[in-house]
Amino acid sequence: MDKIIITIDGWSSCGKSTLAKQLARELHYVYIDSGAMYRAITLHFLRNHVDWTNPEAVEHALGEIRLEFMTNHKNGQTEMWLNGENVEYVIRDLVIAEKVSEVAAIRAVREFAVSRQQEMGRKKGIVMDGRDIGTVVFPHAELKIFMTADEDVRVQRRFRELYEKNPNVTLEEVKHNLSMRDYIDSHREVSPLRKAEDAIVLDNSHVTMKEQLDIAKKWVKEILG
Ligand code: DC
Repeated sequence: MDKIIITIDGWSSCGKSTLAKQLARELHYVYIDSGAMYRAITLHFLRNHVDWTNPEAVEHALGEIRLEFMTNHKNGQTEMWLNGENVEYVIRDLVIAEKVSEVAAIRAVREFAVSRQQEMGRKKGIVMDGRDIGTVVFPHAELKIFMTADEDVRVQRRFRELYEKNPNVTLEEVKHNLSMRDYIDSHREVSPLRKAEDAIVLDNSHVTMKEQLDIAKKWVKEILG
C-alpha cells in the first residue's frame, strides 16, 4: 500500500492535534486540523454579526468564506487562512471556543466543511483530526484513532495552553468550556462525536507524547507492512 488516510477523532483537548502533527511529520503526510475550519467559520460569523439561527443568513455568509491551509515556512506548521488573512492565532481564543460548538452543529456549516475536507483527502497521504473524521468524512480510512484522556488532565492541558496567551483566564472557565463543548459535540443531531466502530482507542491520560507517537507508528506499520 502506498499512502493511507489517518483519522484522529476524540474529545476536546486530548492531544489530537499534537499526535496528528507528529505523525504527519514522520510520514511526510499532510496534516489537516478540521476544527480550525469550524473555528474560522465561527470567527467570520461573529465578526459579521451573522444570525446563525437563520438558514438564509448562514447560506449567504458561507458563500463569502474562502478557507485555505498554508504552510508557515518559518516553523513548518500548517496554518488556517480565512479570506486571505492568517487567522491561526485568533481562532484559538476562548471567545471562539465559546461559540464554535454551536456553529459546528449547523447542518449547512458541516456540509460546507466536510466537502472541503474530503477534497483535501482525495490523494490520501493525509492525517486529519476532528470529531467526525472517521465516521463521516473518511468512513473508509485505513487507520482510525479515537483519542481520549481523563477530564482533569484535559482541563489542565488546555488551561496551560490558554494561560500562556492570556494570564487572566481561569481554570473554572476552561473546565466549563470544555465540558460544554464535549456535551454539544456529542449530542448534536448532525454527525455527533462518537467512536467509529473500527477505530482504535488511545487513552493518553498517563502516556507521554513520545509513547503515544510510538504506539501510533506501530499501528501505521502494521497497515503499511
Ligand atoms: O478540535 P477543536 O477544539 O479545534 O474543534 C473546535 C470545535 O469544532 C469543536 O468543539 C467541535 C467542532 N468540530 C467538529 O464539530 N467537527 C470536527 N471535525 C472538528 C471540530
